[in-house]
Amino acid sequence: MQITMQTIDRIAAAVRSKTKTQPRIGMILGTGLGDLAEAVNSPVMIPYASLPDWPVSTVVGHTGRLVVGDLENQPALVMQGRIHFYEGYTMQQVTLPVRVMQRLGIEILVVTNAAGAINPDFVPGDVMLITDNLNLAGMSGLNPLIGPNLEEFGPRFPDMSQAYDRQLCASARKVAHEKGVLLREGVYAGLSGPSFESPADLRFLHVAGADAVGMSTVSEVIVARHGGTRVLGFSGISNKANLDGDTATSHEEVLEAGRILVPKLETLLRGILQTL
Ligand code: HPA
Repeated sequence: MQITMQTIDRIAAAVRSKTKTQPRIGMILGTGLGDLAEAVNSPVMIPYASLPDWPVSTVVGHTGRLVVGDLENQPALVMQGRIHFYEGYTMQQVTLPVRVMQRLGIEILVVTNAAGAINPDFVPGDVMLITDNLNLAGMSGLNPLIGPNLEEFGPRFPDMSQAYDRQLCASARKVAHEKGVLLREGVYAGLSGPSFESPADLRFLHVAGADAVGMSTVSEVIVARHGGTRVLGFSGISNKANLDGDTATSHEEVLEAGRILVPKLETLLRGILQTL
């Protein structure tokens, strides 16, 4: 399905008809991190299913609605649950919500995800500031910008040299230091999933420079940057990636880690939003 400006604008109009909030911050909550939406004041809830053409998430741990309201006095639109490529959607559908947010006028996109730790220093419950990503899906031909370029948003060949906004990263480090939150940082590798990685996959990712691995985020960041949106990204480390093949990874442990991660992410986000 080719996403057109008409599709994007139809959804944006539907969102506008349900809330007067003009969001400045967009946020995508990853697996197990949905409770972060409770930080939004005076929320208006918009189920994805009530929006025309909005892809609906089918994964346990993803509620499937927009929560629009104020977060630390910033008007925000929060996606409680994201859509993944492995659910069978196209990359254009997966990133359609980012296009809608851009039409609604967001300036900053905060992406969060659950991820496996490849860096041996990281443990479940750690928060990792994403400083760069490995676009593995893109390297195998799954880039969300393939197809006619939407000139209204940006150029045919967008730059990705500083995809994760340096000023926002600096702000995250400062807030983490002030609030006593241990903040890891590193490179996020985005794979399509849904199978977890084999030990050989993980050893490959390790030598390629990845610190964490997951099944989302990178395509959303590409579309955000194509449209000039500033990006801040966090991985919630839910499990140690299993480079030696001794233990299995499960979706349940990913959900469990979210409970530890949500308060840390909330502290960081509140602090960062206060500095804007
Ligand atoms: N691999 C891929 N995606 C994930 C993982 C993992 O180990 N943990 C959470 N999401």
